[in-house]
Amino acid sequence: MSLYELFTSKGPSGFGYGSTAEQVTEGLSLEGKTFLVTGCNSGLGEEALRVLALRGGRVVGTARTVEKAKAACEKVKGSTVPLACELSDPESVKACVAEVKRQGIKLDAIICNAGIMALPKPEQAFGYELQFFTNHIGHFILVTGLLEQLTETGRVVMLSSAAHFRAPKEGIQFDNLEGTKGYTPWGSYGQSKLANLLFARELARRFAGTKKTANAVHPGVIRTNLGRHMNPVARFFFGAFGPLVLKDVPQGAATEVFVATHPSVATVSGEYFADCNVAKARADASDAALAKRLWEVSEKIVAALPAK
Ligand SMILES: NC(=O)c1ccc[n+]([C@@H]2O[C@H](COP(=O)([O-])OP(=O)(O)OC[C@H]3O[C@@H](n4cnc5c(N)ncnc54)[C@H](OP(=O)(O)O)[C@@H]3O)[C@@H](O)[C@H]2O)c1
Repeated sequence: MSLYELFTSKGPSGFGYGSTAEQVTEGLSLEGKTFLVTGCNSGLGEEALRVLALRGGRVVGTARTVEKAKAACEKVKGSTVPLACELSDPESVKACVAEVKRQGIKLDAIICNAGIMALPKPEQAFGYELQFFTNHIGHFILVTGLLEQLTETGRVVMLSSAAHFRAPKEGIQFDNLEGTKGYTPWGSYGQSKLANLLFARELARRFAGTKKTANAVHPGVIRTNLGRHMNPVARFFFGAFGPLVLKDVPQGAATEVFVATHPSVATVSGEYFADCNVAKARADASDAALAKRLWEVSEKIVAALPAK
């Protein structure tokens, strides 16, 4: 496929690589619907917040601090609710859950968008490797805490990545979730993104028989603040040539917004999307036993966290 074809081709959904979040919601009214977007102050989350509000949705925008969330929400025309949700701090995540419940907010979709990538050296939170803890465990606490707030047709959208292909060959290294028995920046990022995908699969299995859905997405490759930990040479090339060959932010936000809102995928669950269409993930991302095991291990990790 030529680059021109890649940029312009459309899949069965009618959208493709070059579609933007505005295009995939064109003509949709999100009036009366409420969405929660994590990491709403930067990159794809900021664009998702803007477009969901533009289409009439109310958006609960979360960021590491309430100041960041407020600043992001203030930039947007429309109805927003800024909340703090620091994903590496379970107390902050639980406070966010409690505030959504206190305000009686019902959610039509939760978009687990926030993330960190390729930390050069192993870092930990509560004894666990930080990308696994932030990208997976933080969102695990958030979503499982908010399940009762989902509407009957509520959707959960997990930001995974094509980088899940870079997870260790055994999938999730259950004997190395601390990152102390071997660490590579991309292996650990890949593992956290495989965990996001497996979480969506297992949640979809648990939603079976209901009208709720859970899916994972790869947004594309987009130059955002996510690359802050990349080495300076890679950052230079990303900066210099990125705009020529990569998606821009409106295109990058399209798949998560599409899966969270579009009527054509209202009943699609347990899938992995890229470029606004169902895509093929790594084989073990469909391993139901692995997904179940990750869920159970995550429950144990969360249960054993120190109470405040
Ligand atoms: N960009 C890409 O090429 C690409 C490719 C594949 C997948 N993705 C996925 O897409 C998602 C969005 O990425 P992006 O490109 O938009 O990156 P970004 O611009 O760096 O945005 C990431 C967001 O996550 C927030 N975040 C980071 N750590 C957090 C924590 N501990 N608690 C709460 N929020 C936290 C950031 O907050 P601060 O600004 O305060 O740090 C920011 O709002 C990520 O999940 C990423 O893995 C991106």
